[in-house]
Amino acid sequence: MRFQRHNSAVIAIFPRLRFAFRTAVILFIACHAPAAWAFSAGQMTVNGRTSPLGIAADNVSLAWAIAADQRGVTQSSYQIRVGTKEGGDDVWDCGRVAAERQIDITLPANLGLAPATRYFWQVKLWDGKGAASDWSSPAWFETGLLSADDWSGAKWIAFTASATNAPRSRPLLRQVVKLPKSVRSARIYASAHGLYQLSINGQKIGDQFLAPGWTDSNQRIQAQTYDVTSFMQKGSNVIGAALGDGWYRGKVGLNWRHVYGDTLALVAKLNVTYSDGSTECFVTDGSWRAAEGPFVQADLQDGESYDVRLEQPGWDRADFDASKWTPVVVASDDLSKLVSQPDEPVRATEVLAARSRTEPAPGEFVYDLGQNMVGVARVKLTGKKGQTVRLRYAEDLHRLGASKSRLYTENLRTAKVTDTYTFARDETVTYQPTFTQHGFRYIEITGLETPPATNEVQGVVLGSDLPDIGDLQLSQPMLDQLVRNIRWGQRGNFVSIPTDTPARDERLGWTGDINVFAPTACRYQDTRAFLSKWMDDMRDAQKANGNIPAIVPQPHREFDETGVGWSDAFITVPYAVWRATGDPRIVRRNWNAMKRFYRFVHESATRDGNLVEEGRSSWFSGDWLSLENGNYQRLEEHKVIATAYFAENTRMMAEMAAAMGETNPAVEWAALVPKIREAFVAAYRRPDGSIYTGTQTAYALALGMDLIGDPKRREQTAARFVEKLAADNYHLRTGFLGTPWLLPSLSKIGRDDLAMRLLLNEDYPSWGFQIRMGATTMWERWNSIHADGNFGPVDMNSFNHYAYGAVGDWMFQHLGGLQIIEPGYKQSRIAPLIGLGGLTDARCSQRTPYGLLASEWKLADDKLTLTVTIPANTSAEVVIPAENMQAVRESNGPATAARGVKRAAFNDGNLTLLLGSGYYEFNVRRQGTVKRVMFSDRVK
Ligand code: BGC
Repeated sequence: MRFQRHNSAVIAIFPRLRFAFRTAVILFIACHAPAAWAFSAGQMTVNGRTSPLGIAADNVSLAWAIAADQRGVTQSSYQIRVGTKEGGDDVWDCGRVAAERQIDITLPANLGLAPATRYFWQVKLWDGKGAASDWSSPAWFETGLLSADDWSGAKWIAFTASATNAPRSRPLLRQVVKLPKSVRSARIYASAHGLYQLSINGQKIGDQFLAPGWTDSNQRIQAQTYDVTSFMQKGSNVIGAALGDGWYRGKVGLNWRHVYGDTLALVAKLNVTYSDGSTECFVTDGSWRAAEGPFVQADLQDGESYDVRLEQPGWDRADFDASKWTPVVVASDDLSKLVSQPDEPVRATEVLAARSRTEPAPGEFVYDLGQNMVGVARVKLTGKKGQTVRLRYAEDLHRLGASKSRLYTENLRTAKVTDTYTFARDETVTYQPTFTQHGFRYIEITGLETPPATNEVQGVVLGSDLPDIGDLQLSQPMLDQLVRNIRWGQRGNFVSIPTDTPARDERLGWTGDINVFAPTACRYQDTRAFLSKWMDDMRDAQKANGNIPAIVPQPHREFDETGVGWSDAFITVPYAVWRATGDPRIVRRNWNAMKRFYRFVHESATRDGNLVEEGRSSWFSGDWLSLENGNYQRLEEHKVIATAYFAENTRMMAEMAAAMGETNPAVEWAALVPKIREAFVAAYRRPDGSIYTGTQTAYALALGMDLIGDPKRREQTAARFVEKLAADNYHLRTGFLGTPWLLPSLSKIGRDDLAMRLLLNEDYPSWGFQIRMGATTMWERWNSIHADGNFGPVDMNSFNHYAYGAVGDWMFQHLGGLQIIEPGYKQSRIAPLIGLGGLTDARCSQRTPYGLLASEWKLADDKLTLTVTIPANTSAEVVIPAENMQAVRESNGPATAARGVKRAAFNDGNLTLLLGSGYYEFNVRRQGTVKRVMFSDRVK
């Protein structure tokens, strides 16, 4: 299909721009599209992932974006075919389905997908005018082992050679596998009690780290799938496995150990398909052999000790003599808890080079990576036989002057965060720990005469490898750094589960932290698979009464805390993911359990015959680390927060019920929302408009969550809020729960100027203060470091907590300008605050499941350029500072005549255009006294 157009409409208007544009403007929309008409499905995902290897076969959910180079492209129908060969349809062909929908198309449950099988799928589309695309290129997904039976009798095997050292042992395990024929394809399915790393014929298998990841092993253990085709050869092959303590047996959380068990074990199955099509499988059983290995210690918090003297050179190669190795014991044959890992594995996502080296004390060398990060070191070490090198890590240094500054490790509490490497001979090696993870910017090396050069020290960044989808670049350096710091906070704390901090002896799935951070997290990365996996963990942890623990997984049953703003993550997290992606799968999978939790919330709020929540918890963190009431808020504040959350939960549940097609609860809950809001106002709003506790958080929640319906009352409360901020010298004082609502509430009351003022502060307490003090990640506390350089309270002071990074969502929405109207940006609103706070340009993009949504604005020499990209099959409301619709009509025709423009309207000093998909460019500029806006739908 081809088309050519060359039209333009010049329309005069009378603008009254709020910012630099007090006089005339010209506004152009230009579009550039190639002559050939392109329309096809791409960016194809399965369960929110690209080409996932080894997934469960139930609830398989497909999605695609549409590549199109015209404006206003929609999808009217689709057809999907699924086959066991590229281009095949032997599994499913749904025929042409008349639907706009392109996200979360689930495969029918009765397809009978087989285990360990690769499926190829393609989509064909019809656009709004009925024109068909070609079939897309084939995408694929591969099932893992689907049930205990699929493991063909594999056993959990362990090394218990000597009863005395067995529980401490971190063994190496091996098996020789003889393959009589050449191999067409091979897969290994594996998991462990503890951490494991596989090798074949001496080579590490897979690119993942810290497998099998963290779940409550008493209920669910993840198995990984590896494509090992290229590693297997005809003849003898050796499969090797090294085991470390990990979450299973090592130190977890607040100094808890042996949480899931004492003995490390491996389970694995190798499936081989020979070139003649015949198959064979090999499983872990009593015929494997084991021996002690070089991992003297392998703990996530305390670190790894690697002793080369205990190495077994060549142990995972075929010519190794394993006659002295001990047969393994079968630890268990219970495979019922194994599930295919549903999310992206932990991978090395970046390597940072050290930037400098100091020697604060003789023989103590400190390397600075310039960035607080999470992962392990990679160091080149030159040592002598028997010599032990010690590596320690820290997020910051004591500030004793440039070269004298030693590691600040006091905030790591009982986490030893120390790796050692012992040499068996004089040599130079590159060492990178296998079974640990640290949070650090600085690496200290001691125990060597010749320390590594600066360029021989690196930080390997580890984290769950979620796809990066969002970017925001701002002309103001401090804000730009803030965007980066938030991103690093997310990378460092998304390690198998969403954690509070990656450095000290905690690293727990505190539900409150991700409750506040989830909307921001969804800006930076596609969180669908990762947070959906964590929702599985939440379901595993749900209590009999429906409540959710404050930490998930909950490794210590006696640590039985729950709380408002924490447990609520069970509703707010799936809501955030669904809103950001338009993909309801995460809601659907958890819906019944979410309703149980909501019933629990509802009952606790209605117990006393009213709709006001009295606190609902066995423990309550309140507005954690707020500067107003210390760590523990007054009881009154708890009630305010709890009732506000009850209203929000109800609103979210009503929206999600509608998306689930459950009309009755949707209607019932939607009707309940205003009642809870009224109850909130009756209970907590004084006649003068002030909110009962008078904290910034109370105002931010009341206004941000729209709890005050009546406009006059709202205005009055807004005035009290502004007075409160003025009394605080326009500085924030909010804790974990109030901070995410602070700037949104100011935007809601029309005070973007104040929002920006708070955001731009650089003195204490503020986001900018952290950055001025050198932060490269988000601090846990506003006062993690004082203005005089002294550290905040040592018992709880991490430099990598993402909660206060929750401001990121507001920045993407208002500085980048990308806002969600319908889930997944099916309809978006692009409304950047142009020129506010001295910003001169902003670039913002999100790769949504529908495709790329982007806005870029630049203010130079009184000229504003705004470009937007809107994904196919979606629409956007674009807000441009200008005004006067009358003038548009009087000139060369209505704005709606321009290609892609569906509607145009002026209000509040803005021209608002409803646009179909495509790329648009707007140029707004003064031109003497001429007052006009030009629309062009010129096509190159
Ligand atoms: C954690 C927080 C958490 C809080 C709740 C802290 O120790 O680091 O992030 O949410 O406890 O009480």
